[in-house]
Amino acid sequence: MNTSTLDLLKARYACKAMNGQKVEEEIIERILEAIRLAPTSSGLQPFEVFVITNQEVKEEIKKIAWNQQPIAACSHLLVFAAWDDYTPERINYMFDLTNDIRGFKNEGWEAYRQQLLSLYGGQNAEANFQHAARQTYIPLMSAMTQAIEEGVDSTPMEGFDPVALDKILGLREKGLRSTLLLPIGYRDVEKDWLVNLVKVRKPMDHLVTRVD
Ligand SMILES: Cc1cc2nc3c(=O)[nH]c(=O)nc-3n(C[C@H](O)[C@H](O)[C@H](O)COP(=O)(O)O)c2cc1C
Repeated sequence: MNTSTLDLLKARYACKAMNGQKVEEEIIERILEAIRLAPTSSGLQPFEVFVITNQEVKEEIKKIAWNQQPIAACSHLLVFAAWDDYTPERINYMFDLTNDIRGFKNEGWEAYRQQLLSLYGGQNAEANFQHAARQTYIPLMSAMTQAIEEGVDSTPMEGFDPVALDKILGLREKGLRSTLLLPIGYRDVEKDWLVNLVKVRKPMDHLVTRVD
């Protein structure tokens, strides 16, 4: 029987200690493809991903990220960085790309382009960044799900100083701001205190309200 998405969601956990073992590049490529395929608001994909394998850079990041073990003991450290603003160039790039790939222009689509240019143009950069930052949580989930399907562990992380990380990677100069870390690697079963603990989730009736 094929593994279902629910099986993968049950198997995934936020790995607390990794063992330094390398993950094959083909697996990393498929995890990155899962990120690329994630949906985003208006399809703008307002973020970039940095893949860090340089051990010195990982150690430097660990220091500004609560000293979390997986950052240095992972194989590949992914850094999600959102656009610092929605500029006309960035919006137009995605609309032009869509027209190029689909091979036609559409009146409704062009009207939507103008609507977005006006919407984001009317908001300040911070509000636009906050919107872009929210989009990065969607590919984060795609990446974690693909990773566990590949038999690889990961740890979603907001526990770091984003201003310091932006400096380490020179993100502000690129018009980006860091939002999330995702170390990818293999669990260290001896050191990982979470590995054998039961997953805790609130019951359905605390989560879902049906309006029939
Ligand atoms: C956006 C986000 C940020 C998180 N930040 C951290 C973090 O900095 N360090 C950490 O060890 N876990 C972090 N976690 C993991 C959560 O604590 C964990 O997902 C949650 O307790 C549920 O446990 P599970 O993922 O093992 O099922 C984060 C999770 C998410 C979704």
